[in-house]
Amino acid sequence: MDKAADEERAMYKVSGITKNFSDNQILKGVSLEIEPNKTTVLIGPSGSGKTTLLRCINLLEIPDGGVVEVGGLSYEFGRGRKPKIDDPRLREIRSRTGMVFQNFQLFPHWTVLENIMKGPVTVLKREKEQCRKEALELLVKVGLSDKKDAYPYELSGGQQQRIAIARALAMKPELLLFDEPTSALDPELEAEVLNIIRQLVEEKRTIVIVTHKMSFAKEIADKIVFFDQGMIVKEGSYEEVENCGNQRITQFLNMIKN
Ligand SMILES: Nc1ncnc2c1ncn2[C@@H]1O[C@H](COP(=O)(O)OP(=O)(O)OP(=O)(O)O)[C@@H](O)[C@H]1O
Ligand SMILES: [Mg+2]
Repeated sequence: MDKAADEERAMYKVSGITKNFSDNQILKGVSLEIEPNKTTVLIGPSGSGKTTLLRCINLLEIPDGGVVEVGGLSYEFGRGRKPKIDDPRLREIRSRTGMVFQNFQLFPHWTVLENIMKGPVTVLKREKEQCRKEALELLVKVGLSDKKDAYPYELSGGQQQRIAIARALAMKPELLLFDEPTSALDPELEAEVLNIIRQLVEEKRTIVIVTHKMSFAKEIADKIVFFDQGMIVKEGSYEEVENCGNQRITQFLNMIKN
C-alpha cells in the first residue's frame, strides 16, 4: 500500500459545513481536520452548535453545504444536491463513525447484549456468534459482564453510558464521537465513564469529544477547538487556546472553571 493511499484513508475532516434550521444558520462554514489517533476536544457556549456539528460529521444531520470526509470516503453537500438520510453513500460514511450521546439512547426494549450486538448483526451483516463473542469482550472492557442480560432501565446512568460506549465500539468505528458523555451523570457515576474514555484515548483511537469538564479536556486533548456562534474561533493546544487573548474564550473558561 503506498503512503499517499494510507494518508488518504487516515483523513478525517469537514470543510465549509453549513447547516440551517428554518431561518437560523447554526453552522456557518465549519472546517476542521480531525487528526487520526488523536483526541480533539470541542468546547464552547451552550447553543453554539457543537452537537449539530457532531451530528453533521456522522451524518445524523444532512449538512446544507460543505464536504464531509471520513477515512477516504467523502461527500459534498449543497450545489442543489440534497441526499436522502438513508443514501447508501452516507450510510457507509456513517457506519465508520460511532457516536455516544449525552442521554445514552440505548434501545429500552433490548437487553444489554442485544443493544451491543444489534448494529454489527443487522447493519454490518456480520456473523451472529462472532458478534456475540465480541460483545461479551466489550462488556469485559467496560466492566459490566454481569449485566449482559439486564435491560437499560435496570442500570444506573453510568452503567448505561458504559454500555452505550460498548455499543459504539462494537461497530469498530474509525472515528468516535462523544457528545457531553457525562453531563447527565452524578459525579460519582461520572468517574467510571471518564475512566473508560481515558482508556480509549490511551489506545490512540481517533476521538472528537464535546465536554464542559475542563480539567478532563486538558488532560486528554491533543487539540482543543473553541466553538462559538456556529464557527470555530480558535484551535490549538490547551495552552494556546487558553492564552490566545480572545475575550470570549477567557470569559467562557472563567465561567466554567472546574
Ligand atoms: N433539530 C433542530 N431543529 C431546530 N433547531 C435546532 C435543532 N437542533 C439544534 N437546533 C438549534 O441549533 C442551535 C445549536 O444547537 P446545538 O445543540 O448544536 O448547540 P450546542 O453547542 O450543542 O449546545 P449545548 O452546549 O447546550 O449542548 C440551538 O439554537 C438549537 O436550538
Ligand atoms: Mg450539545
